[in-house]
Amino acid sequence: MNTAIIINITYVFSAILFIYGLKELSSPATARRGNFISSLGMFIAVVVTLFSQGIIEYQWILLGVVVGGIIGALAARMVAMTAMPEMVALFNGFGGLASLLVGLAAFDPKIVSQFSAAAIFLSVFIGGVTFTGSFIAWGKLSEKITSNPIMFTGQQIVNAILLLGLLAAGVLLISNPSLNNDYLWIVIVLSLLLGIMFVIPIGGGDMPVVISLLNSYSGLAACAAGFAINNLLLIVAGSLVGASGIILTQIMCKAMNRSLSNVLFSGFGSPKTAKGEIEGTVKPIIAEDAFYILEAASSVLIIPGYGMAVAQAQHIVKELQELLEANGAEVVYGVHPVAGRMPGHMNVLLAEADVSYDVLLEMEAVNPRIENFDVAIVIGANDVVNPAAREDESSPLYGMPIVNADLARTVFVLKRSMASGFAGVENPLFFKENVRMLFGDAKESISQLVREFDQ
Ligand code: TAP
Repeated sequence: MNTAIIINITYVFSAILFIYGLKELSSPATARRGNFISSLGMFIAVVVTLFSQGIIEYQWILLGVVVGGIIGALAARMVAMTAMPEMVALFNGFGGLASLLVGLAAFDPKIVSQFSAAAIFLSVFIGGVTFTGSFIAWGKLSEKITSNPIMFTGQQIVNAILLLGLLAAGVLLISNPSLNNDYLWIVIVLSLLLGIMFVIPIGGGDMPVVISLLNSYSGLAACAAGFAINNLLLIVAGSLVGASGIILTQIMCKAMNRSLSNVLFSGFGSPKTAKGEIEGTVKPIIAEDAFYILEAASSVLIIPGYGMAVAQAQHIVKELQELLEANGAEVVYGVHPVAGRMPGHMNVLLAEADVSYDVLLEMEAVNPRIENFDVAIVIGANDVVNPAAREDESSPLYGMPIVNADLARTVFVLKRSMASGFAGVENPLFFKENVRMLFGDAKESISQLVREFDQ
């Protein structure tokens, strides 16, 4: 069998591993295996490509693998769980930069065809936007730059001019690649600028959606790079990343009841003005009194949110779960799809604390039986339990599906203050008759409850 056939068969095998790995990633129970299977597919693909292409001396490749591997391993070990979206943003950015560099390296004005020039244009254009866009997203998330939307008059016009300039440079480049090769540099500069301009008007809280979208772009850039260097596997892998990124983006938008254009262009997250009056009074409770109610409960629903991640309360939450179970209560978790700041945020944290997947229920599974829970404990969640999303047509959250915590018999809300959540919208839940506020850091409050159980 000739080498090209063997390589292509190996590529098909790798592609099957990617697809199977992606399928496994769709459930928390199989996600680790999915990750491993996909990585194995990529490892096989990289090894076969390096052996078959004879691109550069192997010592350079080995050096790159060792240096890159050390940096990657250190980054993965050192990153805090709450900083995971920042890390993903950086990875996306480097993916975009890699496609830009592949496109640049593949461009040989003497021999390049118009088709290859078009593929190179796309890999450089999308890769450039992804690179700088991802770095701005990283800066906003890590608050290295302001996380508020940066908006100015005429912004859309400036962006339109940049985009038109890019497309014009692309058309000139593709029309005569050997003569108009300098236009590639214009494409690089404009795409880097466009990436910055694209992300600065978006608020920090929407960065997870932007990162997912840029992840999709990095896939498209890789796919275009695959066409540029005629590598089938890069085309397949890029398409898979592009498609899964856009599906995830859509899932997030739907869970927030917002359109993608609203996320990208509305400047959501700008400081908001005072809100209207809410009926009812806030009723604080101390841990000791909360304990007596919990001790008598036979079913408890835990609703985690971003504050649980901030407080790093997942381990102590698991302890409380075990104590409640030992006391005869049924305990389940109601997880909203956009609780926290990244997809699967709560699931990952709770998995870290060894909470069984069986008790992690999705919003759709807990809502129909929510009236039957004796107690709902809302741990650092706010927007995802805001009943205004269900009841108040004037609320910015109106229409967003929520975990209907307020319909449980008794609700404890664990947070530090009356501050609003990510959306900046006041929460009528805190004023409802059946709700008690347990103020304080979530980890500290739950530790107090655990101590009460232990005594
Ligand atoms: P949020 O609405 O952001 O509320 C989090 C709450 O946690 C805050 O009100 C805060 O109140 C409390 N908190 C912070 N630190 C705490 C601590 N140490 N101890 C106790 N409480 C603490 O969170 P959520 O309900 O999870 O909603 C997520 C929001 O992010 C939604 O609006 C969603 O649309 C948005 N979003 C999510 C994603 C994804 S993929 N998850 C992507 C983009 C946007 P205090 O300051 O009073 O303590």
